[in-house]
Amino acid sequence: MIQTTAPGKIILFGEHAVVYGRPAIAIPVSEVCATATIEVSDSQTFLIAPDLSMEMAMAEAEADNPIAVAIRIVETSIKELPPMRVTVTSSIPIASGLGSGAAISAAIIRGVTQFMDWPVSNKFVSELAFEVEKIHHGTPSGIDNTVVAYESPIYFIHYETYNEIKRFKAKRPLTFVIADTGIKSPTKVAVGDVRKEWEANPEMFNALFDRCGQVAEAGRAAIQAGRINEVGRLMSENHILLQTMTVSSPELDNLVNIAVQAGALGAKLSGAGRGGNIIALVEDGEKATAVSEALRQAGAKSIFVTTLEK
Ligand code: PMV
Repeated sequence: MIQTTAPGKIILFGEHAVVYGRPAIAIPVSEVCATATIEVSDSQTFLIAPDLSMEMAMAEAEADNPIAVAIRIVETSIKELPPMRVTVTSSIPIASGLGSGAAISAAIIRGVTQFMDWPVSNKFVSELAFEVEKIHHGTPSGIDNTVVAYESPIYFIHYETYNEIKRFKAKRPLTFVIADTGIKSPTKVAVGDVRKEWEANPEMFNALFDRCGQVAEAGRAAIQAGRINEVGRLMSENHILLQTMTVSSPELDNLVNIAVQAGALGAKLSGAGRGGNIIALVEDGEKATAVSEALRQAGAKSIFVTTLEK
């Protein structure tokens, strides 16, 4: 039996603009993860997802079944797999901006290749997870699959034919409170709506994307130099840019405002928006407790804290 995991992720800067070639920054979040368990099967391949009450033969799975898609992509890229039982569980909320889909794909790809004793690099896991993302999301930038496969903070630029991926370190630890509106929001819909807005108002949206890119650049410099107040200020600016792009919501704005009022250095929606999670940067553990409590009272559905170590 083989068991593999892949973490969730948050985007600190640059979601949506990253689809249009601007830089963005994401970090893995190991407090939540997807797990794939691969076991021998003597007859045919079975797909099992207890959280979804799913247990079926792969031959009966719909074409877009996410477990089946990930397995088929491994088969297409390497070679046919023998029958196996593939069980997937995940503590990452679905459609909430925490990279659940990419983490599930990465855990399965790692799991089945380890089960076969096929050594694969993080780059390979990321590339295959990207193929799955394309089937589910249409035009992904690739940032989700990259950060969950590399399990490292990344500065990411998506070009037409390749991606620029730089790992970096924080000079001071950064602590984030992550709070869920409880509203599910499919990435594909928000990304599609931004595309329509961009097509209708190219000048305005290109300028918004440019500014997001500059904020991400400045954010990376501030993280690397340990300028924590500036990181917070830039996060709040990024949230306003995302509001202007129409991907925030009253619930997200409310949680962002509550976090800042309770002492966060900055806060923003993270991921595709419209629902899902906000992230708030706090100075220390004491502030994390105060901000978490304020968010709980404001109705956040789940709250947890993650730290990007230096
Ligand atoms: O899948 P989510 O909700 O974590 O968002 C992904 C980030 C986007 O920039 C909105 C889309 C993309 O492919 O980069």
